Amino acid sequence: MQDKQRQILVSNALPYANGPLHIGHLVGYIQADIWVRFQKMLGNECHYVCADDTHGTPIMLRAQKEGITPEALIEAMSREHQADFTDFAVAFDNYHSTHSPENQELANTIYEALDNAGHINKRTIKQAYDPEKKMFLPDRFIRGECPKCGAADQYGDNCEVCGATYSPTDLKNPVSAVSGATPIEKESEHYFFKLGDFEKLLHEWTRAGHLQAEVTNKLDEWFEAGLQEWDISRDAPYFGFEIPNAPGKFFYVWLDAPMGYLASFKNLCDKTNLNFDDWCKAGSDKEMIHFIGKDIIYFHALFWPAVLEGSGFRTPSAVYANGFLTVDGQKMSKSRGTFIKARTYLNHLNPEYLRYYFSAKLGSGIDDIDLNLEDFSARVNSDLVGKVVNIASRCAGFIKKRFDGQLSETVQDPELYAALVAANESIKTAYDNREYSRAMREIMTLADKVNQYIDDHKPWVIAKEDNSDDKLQAVCSMGINCFRLLMLYLKPVLPVMAKKTEAFLNIEAMQWHDADTALTNHKINKFKPLMTRIEKESIEKMIEDSKVDLEATPNETVVTGPLADDPIADEISFEDFMKVDLRIAKIVKAGHVEGADKLLQLTLDIGGETRNVFAGIKSAYAPEELEGKLTVMVANLAPRKMRFGLSEGMVLAAGPGGKDLFVLHPDNGAEPGMKVK
Ligand code: MSP
Ligand code: ZN
Repeated sequence: MQDKQRQILVSNALPYANGPLHIGHLVGYIQADIWVRFQKMLGNECHYVCADDTHGTPIMLRAQKEGITPEALIEAMSREHQADFTDFAVAFDNYHSTHSPENQELANTIYEALDNAGHINKRTIKQAYDPEKKMFLPDRFIRGECPKCGAADQYGDNCEVCGATYSPTDLKNPVSAVSGATPIEKESEHYFFKLGDFEKLLHEWTRAGHLQAEVTNKLDEWFEAGLQEWDISRDAPYFGFEIPNAPGKFFYVWLDAPMGYLASFKNLCDKTNLNFDDWCKAGSDKEMIHFIGKDIIYFHALFWPAVLEGSGFRTPSAVYANGFLTVDGQKMSKSRGTFIKARTYLNHLNPEYLRYYFSAKLGSGIDDIDLNLEDFSARVNSDLVGKVVNIASRCAGFIKKRFDGQLSETVQDPELYAALVAANESIKTAYDNREYSRAMREIMTLADKVNQYIDDHKPWVIAKEDNSDDKLQAVCSMGINCFRLLMLYLKPVLPVMAKKTEAFLNIEAMQWHDADTALTNHKINKFKPLMTRIEKESIEKMIEDSKVDLEATPNETVVTGPLADDPIADEISFEDFMKVDLRIAKIVKAGHVEGADKLLQLTLDIGGETRNVFAGIKSAYAPEELEGKLTVMVANLAPRKMRFGLSEGMVLAAGPGGKDLFVLHPDNGAEPGMKVK
């Protein structure tokens, strides 16, 4: 049965115009892009918009520092962002700016509607003020000593060293990060949005299926704390929109930022024949869906629906939050080279590797996702190159050479083929529900079956038999047909490879319903390699370049160096520390691990007991150098299941990594099993 066509306006969170995109940002953009591409393949009407988020103090100050106007800065950033999106195949239908006439008009209209309805309050508050620079200071621009641990040069709202949160007035010896002056307190009249007026609406709205369950739960905490009035004004100097009838007062960046979704859509409507009001005004029967990162839920699940409701606009149909990206299990880090800019990635690797890897990891929840670089190359190489592309490359040559590109008239194994067709339903459901990891798993299981089919039929053997033409053509055509279905299912994730596939198969752009018909009696083109393996060197170079990036562009307003990127973890007690049992261990055996780029497998003798441990030290040691030597291991670490087997402990290492890693204990007579104190 054909479902009713959906009409959906989709947006992604708007990237700040004060810096380049990094691979963490890309999680949400790639996630939404896949969803949109999938909806379009189904034949739904879907408009996908984004814009640069251009207002606020950081952008104003950065432009001043660079000696350019904020307009010139945001123009350059927007161009950079759009180039990154294009190269990652994130295909917005419109990309605009919050510093646009459409957004200014929307901001004014919405604000005036809220004000007329009595939802705006004015009152005077005290704030930190830089007497030299003559500006109020956002928390982030006040620095001083942490009131808790005394660490120097900490932000006005939290300490990067001990993790404490506080208000800027608690900082000891505060200074303005802009001028170095000591901030004073100064009064000013601010404008507030009375969020509490919408308590009832929000209470219902946040429970009505527009949000992920985890998000609703999180919001409960905020409801319990009570909905506070939201400060929506900032004093000049500020880069933003001046509030109507309030000279010197500007809309706070977060007020007009989400309006940028509508502004971008308005801009699209004006270029096409879409009717803005039909989509965006209260009572609209269309869908409006926002994809965002989990750090900005508050703005999208409370303020935004209330602002829309209070000003005669429709509320969102859904807000979907994604988790944060970690690299190799840790926060992205400039010193480790894992703070990877979108452009740095593109300079070394195929964007579709990352699109696939994210898909293989993404579910519908807000869990963080980890880019494990070793797993990344293993997964992409084995799934995409080893399984999917391999099917085509094993069959295409015979079809081209022996049958002039002609596929046979029927599919050779109707049962297997029907199973692949039938899978489209559950894969479709998985995509629709943003359960991409499930979709990828299903697709790869199908790919395994097809490879098994080819292994069983061995076209390369058939090709050498006499009078085997029909059989060879039938088997290879079956392989090609299965490959086509797999690529159809992967198309939202791998649009570039899908396009190459369409050229190779000599077919129109694949739509979801094309799964219903097989390619028979059809002529295909010459096969060209569709994707190559990830080379280890490319990843290494990308990491190196990411380290260089840091030196080239120090970030002036932020502390750099290892502590800033990897703040010291929560304090542990001496008792906690004493729980770690360190023992001298003798490396009785060391060897390579098949398929692992960084690991060595060690057999460790700790006196009467041997342990199997995988250690990431291959960059520094050859197995021969280790055998017979002593090391120190954490002997009471819970065993960990790794892809290669069980690791029963951990070896201690010193050094920055790469070649400079030191694990050996001097042979000073220490006995295996001795406690290290
Ligand atoms: N400008 C605001 C959004 C305004 S929306 C009306 C903003 N910009 S941002 O550039 O900081 O982030 C853009 C998006 O990337 C946000 O959805 C944010 O949550 C997401 N991410 C930023 N760092 C991220 C990771 N490390 N991992 C995953 N998503 C991340 O917020
Ligand atoms: Zn501190």
